Amino acid sequence: MGLWKFLGLVGFFTLCRAGQDNKCDNFSDLNFHETFIGTNLYVRLLLYTRANLDCGQELPHHNFTKELLFDVKKPTTFVIHGYRPTGAPPIWINHIVHLLAAQVDMNILVVDWNRGAANLNYFIAVTNTRRTAINITGFIERMRDEGASLESIHLIGVSLGAHVAGFIGAMLGGKIGRITGLDPAGPMFAGVPPDERLDPTDAQFVDVLHTDMNSFGLKGTHGHIDFYANGGLDQPGCPKTIFSGKSYFVCDHQRAIFLYLCALNHTCNITAYPCSSYSDFLNGQCLQCEAFKPASCPVLGYDMTPWKNTLLKLGQTRVYFSTSADPPYRKTSYRVDIVTWNQYLRWGVVTLRLHSGKNVTETRIDHKLLRFEQYTATRMLAQFDEDLYPVQKISLRIITGNVIGPRYKLRLIRIRITPLDQPDRPLMCRYDLIMEENAEITFKPLPCDESRL
Ligand SMILES: *[C@@H]1O[C@H](CO)[C@@H](O)[C@H](O)[C@H]1NC(C)=O
Ligand SMILES: *[C@@H]1O[C@H](CO)[C@@H](O)[C@H](O)[C@H]1NC(C)=O
Ligand SMILES: *[C@@H]1O[C@H](CO)[C@@H](O)[C@H](O)[C@H]1NC(C)=O
Ligand SMILES: *[C@@H]1O[C@H](CO)[C@@H](O)[C@H](O)[C@H]1NC(C)=O
Ligand SMILES: *[C@@H]1O[C@H](CO)[C@@H](O)[C@H](O)[C@H]1NC(C)=O
Ligand SMILES: *[C@@H]1O[C@H](CO)[C@@H](O)[C@H](O)[C@H]1NC(C)=O
Repeated sequence: MGLWKFLGLVGFFTLCRAGQDNKCDNFSDLNFHETFIGTNLYVRLLLYTRANLDCGQELPHHNFTKELLFDVKKPTTFVIHGYRPTGAPPIWINHIVHLLAAQVDMNILVVDWNRGAANLNYFIAVTNTRRTAINITGFIERMRDEGASLESIHLIGVSLGAHVAGFIGAMLGGKIGRITGLDPAGPMFAGVPPDERLDPTDAQFVDVLHTDMNSFGLKGTHGHIDFYANGGLDQPGCPKTIFSGKSYFVCDHQRAIFLYLCALNHTCNITAYPCSSYSDFLNGQCLQCEAFKPASCPVLGYDMTPWKNTLLKLGQTRVYFSTSADPPYRKTSYRVDIVTWNQYLRWGVVTLRLHSGKNVTETRIDHKLLRFEQYTATRMLAQFDEDLYPVQKISLRIITGNVIGPRYKLRLIRIRITPLDQPDRPLMCRYDLIMEENAEITFKPLPCDESRL
């Protein structure tokens, strides 16, 4: 081998190495000692694009135009993490980068303010949210000077990061295209005026997801649309006692991220219904989506275009949904309308089972006592963990708690079951059913005949 060729080969391998693992910049990994003594704020910006999905590239804060992968003419999404009590990198960075890149061709800038957020003292991390926001605002202003449009910028903030996003948006006069807040942090932000937290004036469109309003999250409405998962308080599958250790503290709060990742991945298409409270939603009082026509009700996730204009007109909208404990989290929802004709008033809760072949899924509607009486129309929301289709049989039980004494008969003039998430599926009805309290009846659903009632 000639000398020139040999040198060329060495050069080639050197270039390859530089282009691969060596040049990847990773999220700061701090140890317990560092979080214990505290770290000084240092903001890093890690760039990911479709061309370097698995190899972050740290951008300089100034003179970034030389960075070939960073194209300010493309949309840019900033991902801003929250408080990091342990100093370890968030486990979801890689997932969110991949999922965002799959939506549109964009620059993804992971804001690494771990030095600043990793501190045993939460209050110091809170103080650093403003300083981080000032730093990133300076960067975005330089992006704008280089030709980026503020409208094409999206800030996704998790917990404290949601307020960082709000501060940035406010400093840029609310001209940023969008802010998504994932369970905005509550401690130190509850009851403060809007300019000290995330609020709808911070961007042209602000969407917020709440999962832990009663401890780490923040109560109230903070966006043009606020999604409340399971009422925004306690999440199914999360431990209810302190004996479960760390996950007792963080599970509800972290669920916001996992729900959002699942929504970005389209593995859980979660429809949310506008309502004034979660209990009204569970009572089946808020299942109308007419306001969003021709779209249906809002679906959690990246693409809000079908609902955005309506939401901007409405001002601030609260929307509710329920989930199951595990991915894909979604439940299958039906509106159930019953008209009863009993001589005597009965109060009770309802269980419904849907059968498809050998498969069965069950729900119990028991968050309040329902009233069954002569000519009383009762509306319920029935949500199942599984989506069985086609439904071949339905079992219904009305539990009145009357265990001694004679069993009263209950007469249903009509039961109508309307699928909510798949409007193309048929309505299911049955007419004139006689049942006994506490006893289950099973029937085949029939097509609904509106002339009968
Ligand atoms: C970044 O992380 C990867 C994978 O863990 C590792 O191989 C690489 O050496 C790290 N890069 C730096 C600069 O630490
Ligand atoms: C940016 O680049 C310009 C010209 O190339 C140089 O004068 C300036 O000092 C640089 N700024 C920083 C912060 O590196
Ligand atoms: C998206 O969901 C699929 C399963 O539907 C899973 O295999 C994949 O890993 C998920 N992607 C991410 C980035 O979470
Ligand atoms: C942001 O922080 C970086 C790192 O400390 C620094 O180089 C940069 O000048 C800061 N930008 C602003 C606008 O303060
Ligand atoms: C969710 O919706 C998207 C777009 O409407 C669709 O492509 C996808 O298949 C749906 N996913 C599931 C699990 O139904
Ligand atoms: C019953 O459920 C299993 C697993 O979820 C599925 O593979 C099967 O197709 C279902 N059968 C019917 C008849 O729905």
